[in-house]
Amino acid sequence: MHDKAVTIQLTDTDPREFAGDLLVYLVEEEIPHLAANAGKVLNRALQQVWETGDFKGKKEQVFLFYPGVAEQDEESRVLAKRVLLAGLGKQDDAINVRREQLRLTGGAIAKQASAVKAKDVLVVLPKDFLLAAAEIAECLTEGLLLGNYRFELYRTSRDEAEKPGRVERFFLHDGGLSKTAVRKGMQRGKAVAEATCAARDMANQPGNGWTPAEFAEYAKKLSKKSKLKCKVLDKAAMQKLAMGGILGVSQGSAVPPQLVILEYRTEKKNPTLLLVGKGLTFDSGGICTKPPAGMEDMKYDMCGGAAVLTAMQAIDELEISGINVVALIPATENMSGSAALKPGDVIRQFGGKTSEIINTDAEGRLILADALAYGIATYAPEAVVDLATLTGAVIVGLGHHYTGLLANNDQLAAQLIDAGAQAGEPMWRLPLGPEYRKQLDSRLADIKNAGSDRSGGTITAACYLQEFVGETPWAHLDIAGTAWDFTEKSYIPKGPSGTGVRTLVALVSQWKPLKPADKK
Ligand code: BES
Ligand code: ZN
Ligand code: ZN
Repeated sequence: MHDKAVTIQLTDTDPREFAGDLLVYLVEEEIPHLAANAGKVLNRALQQVWETGDFKGKKEQVFLFYPGVAEQDEESRVLAKRVLLAGLGKQDDAINVRREQLRLTGGAIAKQASAVKAKDVLVVLPKDFLLAAAEIAECLTEGLLLGNYRFELYRTSRDEAEKPGRVERFFLHDGGLSKTAVRKGMQRGKAVAEATCAARDMANQPGNGWTPAEFAEYAKKLSKKSKLKCKVLDKAAMQKLAMGGILGVSQGSAVPPQLVILEYRTEKKNPTLLLVGKGLTFDSGGICTKPPAGMEDMKYDMCGGAAVLTAMQAIDELEISGINVVALIPATENMSGSAALKPGDVIRQFGGKTSEIINTDAEGRLILADALAYGIATYAPEAVVDLATLTGAVIVGLGHHYTGLLANNDQLAAQLIDAGAQAGEPMWRLPLGPEYRKQLDSRLADIKNAGSDRSGGTITAACYLQEFVGETPWAHLDIAGTAWDFTEKSYIPKGPSGTGVRTLVALVSQWKPLKPADKK
């Protein structure tokens, strides 16, 4: 959906010979030092800027100047139109914060590049930053590409001058770091950033631009140009399997539901991880209709599905080894057509459990329950992770800064918290327990889909899902607060964030088999 693909590549060009729009050096706080060979002009400029106090290398601080104005002799000249000094801040003691420092700097560079409408940008990597060369390249690449993200698909009338600037070509200069390591890190950063941008694109699409059919189409196309295997279960297939949750939610809509399946297969002996993402392409609430103010945001109710789908794209591209991954995306609208589910109706989820519908707006758990039960029955995974914009309650509890995590397995929870911390997507674990599950006791059916009050809403929603995973290690990420309006950062735009993609890729690449003792 990007009009033109953004490229990023390693370059051998001497930075001083780079005749593009913007040449960037990264500078640590209180350390007035440029990468080797920056030359006389730039070192003199840095010294001046430092002495005046205009730039001290603080986090996300930038300083732009025009070397062409300075007197330049033949051997020290700088050909770039502009030079940007970008502050890294002080190197933090914690490695995850250092990773984040590079992403934030990448985002700040992209923003500044956009402000001056730079198309070609060369960034010289910092040699003395305390991270492996590959990680420096990876995190910076993420920041640059994520910060450069725009969604312009539905803008037809803007003239060129009014359009926000967007970099077309990024070049990285190794700055003295190992080229092989830098190339590897850059490729990794590029794969996850592109996947995240693809997830943002899907979310930015309006409800009439991204329906279950688009989810299916994207997955099918992806499988044609990758090693991923794609299967799509349509309404008839789901009827045969008696998936009463997805079918029930979709029956109020004119748009048919789809269950999208992608498989990433390595070796048979490897464990299988199952990923499930809520792909609700518009949530009106159904018969229990939501209030109109802000209802347009419910086009984002598919962000879990988008994250899972695009994470698969990156996992395939990076050829992650030692693990098989299967992704399921139950995709449907939740509308209030005359065939819609009604409060009081009873449905049968996949596997036969009956569920009394108390609130048609608690639809996410209904479609996830089918997908979880079906995925576990079909693929016997070692573990399951689901992502869903499941409850407003998680925003009340954690705001827009932490994803809610609920799990029946401590090792799995710990791996996710770790992966999230590395990716700059923090998570906070909430409890589960029979005292909460009790709120879902139904007098008519095996379970009801909502409690009689809203207390502990994020937890009771997870309790519903837990009914359908049995003993399989499972973790649920409630991303209702972070899928959009996530903590404002230089590399996170105001709209959808693409949260979860980078965490999932980190989880899969560093997967540690769960010890049997703790599998319960
Ligand atoms: N998609 C919503 C959850 C949501 C709300 C996400 C606000 C992001 C922002 C979900 O389907 C829903 O409506 N949940 C209800 C559950 C309730 C009826 C038990 C909720 O949170 O109010
Ligand atoms: Zn809902
Ligand atoms: Zn929903």
